[in-house]
Amino acid sequence: MKLADNKATLSFSNGKPAIDLPVYSGNIGPDVIDIRKLYGQTGMFTYDPGFLSTASCQSAITYIDGDKGELLYRGYPIEQLAVNCDFLETCYLLLKGNLPNATEKKDFTDLVTRHTMVNEQMQFFLRGFRRDAHPMAILTGLIGALSAFYHDSTDINNPEHREISAIRLIAKLPTLVAMAYKYGIGQPYMYPQNDLSYSGNFLRMMFATPCEEYKVNPVIEKALDRIFILHADHEQNASTSTVRLCGSSGTNPFAAIAAGVACLWGPAHGGANEACLNMLEDLQANGGVAKVGEFMEKVKDKNSGVRLMGFGHRVYKNYDPRAKLMQETCDEVLTELGLEKDPLFALAKALEKIALEDDYFVSRKLYPNVDFYSGIVQRAIGIPVNLFTGIFALARTVGWIAQLNEMIGDPEYKIGRPRQLFTGSVRRDVPHITKR
Ligand SMILES: CC(C)(COP(=O)(O)OP(=O)(O)OC[C@H]1O[C@@H](n2cnc3c(N)ncnc32)[C@H](O)[C@@H]1OP(=O)(O)O)[C@@H](O)C(=O)NCCC(=O)NCCS
Repeated sequence: MKLADNKATLSFSNGKPAIDLPVYSGNIGPDVIDIRKLYGQTGMFTYDPGFLSTASCQSAITYIDGDKGELLYRGYPIEQLAVNCDFLETCYLLLKGNLPNATEKKDFTDLVTRHTMVNEQMQFFLRGFRRDAHPMAILTGLIGALSAFYHDSTDINNPEHREISAIRLIAKLPTLVAMAYKYGIGQPYMYPQNDLSYSGNFLRMMFATPCEEYKVNPVIEKALDRIFILHADHEQNASTSTVRLCGSSGTNPFAAIAAGVACLWGPAHGGANEACLNMLEDLQANGGVAKVGEFMEKVKDKNSGVRLMGFGHRVYKNYDPRAKLMQETCDEVLTELGLEKDPLFALAKALEKIALEDDYFVSRKLYPNVDFYSGIVQRAIGIPVNLFTGIFALARTVGWIAQLNEMIGDPEYKIGRPRQLFTGSVRRDVPHITKR
């Protein structure tokens, strides 16, 4: 970041002297006012719940222009990456800053592929869960537990440890997600197979059984790979900030990523595609397209507590570019599987059409986000609804690691420790129990 040629001056109406605050510019996007010395100079904090106006770090990984509806990974538009690259090239890009050449791609792919197996003991750990446990509960546990299995890569301050744990996490997440699924349905785990692609291998671990050969469908394989690319990173969102905050204490990478998984679980974040599909299924069961108008009236009624899931975004105030790509993938997958007439897809399109023309949504700049169509694609592929967020976690792991490693390498990095505006009781004495 560089010092901008202007500065900010903060003045007070109570006669306190004004102070100057430095302003820094990034390469694109809004400038930032550096308030690090504010408390020292004025004895005051800033107040910004939900971080609406706060840049918590500098980062060179992902850039979003919410007004334009633009998403760049290391400068490359998501639309170009989704069409020209596969997920592992995207991982390499996010982790290392540049796209791999052919040799680098092969070496990286080989490296990830050779780390896909998990310690055999992991399945006994998994056995402790109820069979009907939510996969996100299982994943939070399993990923945190990796630190107990891979003691040799838990020092966050050691670059080699960070590198090997990054590869391990990217490689093992598909295996763990598939294991969580197989455990839930009582089928044997399928070991990874190294001659398959990252997404092909995941499909096989999910849907093959030891009883017969499994042939990976290339259309589904490509669709899944695209889902992974579109979810790989999204700058300082809630789960990424959680990973950074957790990692800032110096904890091990597996623990920090488990914290990200826990945060992602919520319906306002990674759980949104599950919530969106549940919403579509409910609506379909209660009249489908014919009831869309009525449903939209409920969504617009603030007292109903109903939101149009998969719509709206803290940063995008325009069409989420990932939603367009996901809609395309949705079309391809449904056609491949002979589900062109899928009523949920028709319903989603009808909802989108109404919302894009309705003043409630237009005036609030609410557009479909990536989750609006991703649930339909995943459901068509055969992924159960309660595993959607697990798939998201699998894909986002690389972004979390890239951001965590960037933070550790940043000379300005400090343990994260927000302050507060205290509104509780002032000091008082403890009364005797008979007087309370
Ligand atoms: C993502 C989300 C949490 C962003 O929230 P936010 O930035 O805090 O935005 P707000 O909740 O302040 O919403 C701004 C306005 O739009 C309305 N709004 C936002 N999303 C809405 C939705 N999905 N349906 C109906 N109204 C919505 C809010 O009620 C608010 O209206 P108001 O100004 O009249 O009070 C929110 O849009 C949402 O809940 N979306 C549905 C869940 C979802 O798809 N999440 C996935 C994100 S990738």
